[in-house]
Amino acid sequence: MPDDVEARSRAVLEQAWDDARGYCYPNRSVYPHQWLWDSCFHAIAWAALGDARGLAELRSALSGQLDNGFVPHMRFSGPTSPRGPLPDRSGFTQPPVYALAARELTRAGQPVDAALAGRIVRAFEHLWQQRRQDGLLVVLHPWETGCDDSPRWDSWMDGRRPWDRKHWRSFDRRWLAAATFGPEGDAVSSSLFTAAPSAFNGITAHGLRIAGELLGDSRLTAWADELGAAMEDLLWDDEQSLYVDRALTGGGPSCSLPTLDGVLGALGALDRGRAVRALDQLRDPQRFKAPHGLAYVPRTSPDYEPDAYWRGPAWPQLTYLAVQACRRWGLDDLAADVAREGRRAIHASGYAEYWNPETGQGCGAQPQTWAALACALT
Ligand code: GLC
Repeated sequence: MPDDVEARSRAVLEQAWDDARGYCYPNRSVYPHQWLWDSCFHAIAWAALGDARGLAELRSALSGQLDNGFVPHMRFSGPTSPRGPLPDRSGFTQPPVYALAARELTRAGQPVDAALAGRIVRAFEHLWQQRRQDGLLVVLHPWETGCDDSPRWDSWMDGRRPWDRKHWRSFDRRWLAAATFGPEGDAVSSSLFTAAPSAFNGITAHGLRIAGELLGDSRLTAWADELGAAMEDLLWDDEQSLYVDRALTGGGPSCSLPTLDGVLGALGALDRGRAVRALDQLRDPQRFKAPHGLAYVPRTSPDYEPDAYWRGPAWPQLTYLAVQACRRWGLDDLAADVAREGRRAIHASGYAEYWNPETGQGCGAQPQTWAALACALT
């Protein structure tokens, strides 16, 4: 790794670190709160840097956990618009990257203690017991996928074209209002939006497998297998060679639009042949392989907008997850290529929130702390 990638990654984390709270703000002015998967990715970056703040950040990410095991997608550090009934945190969750973070910390010599391991297990138990429908895990708002404005949600939005963010904002409020919350404040159902996304399920199955191994808990490994089998049954699209999302309340054809989520299903899938077919699209310039990293939407798709938030740009955290998916299936050359390109592109983007994969130009908040994953891309 060039020294400057390591030094820049460290600097990006340092300038956003809040010592009293024990976490990094993704960006102090644009994102001045704690986000669950962001903090897990920060923990991974801290681990790669050999910095003990990794464990502190993972502990902090899980410290907003409710008694029933639910982990909120945000903890608020000041006034902001509500995301459910809880005054200080969201009633929605985000992809469970915490087991992957725990493994990376352990590998870097920062093993999780029993209390933190217990939180991770309870978080998975909550998802498993409260969020399964037809054998798959469901989300109740696009926020829960972390891919807030993905084309995969377009069918929930009257399918109006061209897509615009103002229009989306009016829907995010409707979806919030359509959710019902349990006695502790976590979302339990929605009258408008319920989906079983391929990436969320893939990340969960991957996390269950990692946690099962790390903590010696065969029950979690069995859940990983069960979830992987449900994904193969219900989410594989043979025509596109991608995993697609499943709409359970609302939604429609946009669930099958090709996005990187369809490749990230390979994180949790069980069928090697299918996983490799999906992952091969990371090598294909007609699909996700762009001059500067991985496009979120295939480059030949009519929906591809390489500059527009969640409509085509490349993302540090998805690049990191794509590398993990390649590693899971032993595609080590592809993993190394994606990692090398991602590292270079993040550095060139100025450690931006996301970047234009055609030009390499940084977009969104700059710097954004998950860009420090550059130092973990190996
Ligand atoms: C945006 C992203 C989400 C991320 C958050 C903070 O809402 O869509 O994935 O967690 O910003 O970076």
